[in-house]
Amino acid sequence: MIHDKNRIRKLFRIIIFTILTSCLVGCGAQKKSFSQAEDSGIIVGFSQIGAESAWRTCNTRSVQDAAAERGVQLVYANAEQKQENQIKALRSFIAYQVDVIAFIPIVTDGWDNVLQEARDAGIPVLVTDRKIDVADQSLYAGFIGTDSLKEGRDAGLFILNKFKDKRERFAETNEYINIVELFGTEGSSVAIGRAEGFREVLKGHPEFRIVYSKSGDFLRSKGYELAVEFLGMYDDIDAIFSHNDGMSLGAIEAIEERGLRPGTDIVIVTIDAQQAAIDALRAGKVNCVIECNPKTGPEIIKLAERLAAGENIPRLQYVHEEVFYETDDLSLIEPRGY
Ligand code: AHR
Repeated sequence: MIHDKNRIRKLFRIIIFTILTSCLVGCGAQKKSFSQAEDSGIIVGFSQIGAESAWRTCNTRSVQDAAAERGVQLVYANAEQKQENQIKALRSFIAYQVDVIAFIPIVTDGWDNVLQEARDAGIPVLVTDRKIDVADQSLYAGFIGTDSLKEGRDAGLFILNKFKDKRERFAETNEYINIVELFGTEGSSVAIGRAEGFREVLKGHPEFRIVYSKSGDFLRSKGYELAVEFLGMYDDIDAIFSHNDGMSLGAIEAIEERGLRPGTDIVIVTIDAQQAAIDALRAGKVNCVIECNPKTGPEIIKLAERLAAGENIPRLQYVHEEVFYETDDLSLIEPRGY
């Protein structure tokens, strides 16, 4: 009986909440899953960054499907790339007393106050995909997502190996290996980690130089614009390290328009492993694709269930990720689903 009353109260809050947040932050419609399970009574507030890439759309779908499959009510808020919208959404989740908050912080900084409010309200917080920098680490229960430092290192190792001959000749030729970096969103943990891992590997190899590094905000359109710019500035670019596939695909378009051959005239290493990037790898237009796994929904929902039950969860959990090289048997790669 008490349980029923709680459930009715919760459902009422959710209806009001959904109406409110659709005005505040543009909530996405809750996707109906083919396998909607019996209601678990758990309500999770999920603050997503937006829909800037195929990766992001897949990640949203993964969380929505997993919630539906476990009978978890998901209150989904799309922040449309604005931190202020995320903070508003988190405050709404707190006001309507969801059981757990799961959120993907667009940038690392600026979360201390709102997370303190969540703690004061007794709502556990799960951080996913991107990390945060807070003075008090106990303001969130744990993190689950991908290892961006490793992704950057994998990119660096590929470049190191790919240019082995050229770098061994450097002492006589004095020919540098010129790299362009298409940086993700400024201040985001994934862009910071990828850049750091990449530099860590190339450090101690003076034959490499990053001649151009700018943020394309993980957007295909900006990847294209940046490529038009750097191709106009330099005619001796050896390689591109792109923080995501969207920007790589935009850059490939600009490279081809310039009459150059992506993957041959300019080596390309890219992160995400969406289907279009794998297709470009097969076509020889990309040389290495590093997976950033977006299908974290089932793990996120399992962790949310544990938090709702008052359990502790691991502080840090990375998901499995692969690297696809041009030299692999590419026929073995399964369809990516994003
Ligand atoms: O945070 C993960 C990154 O964000 C993905 O690499 C990118 O495609 C996305 O938009």
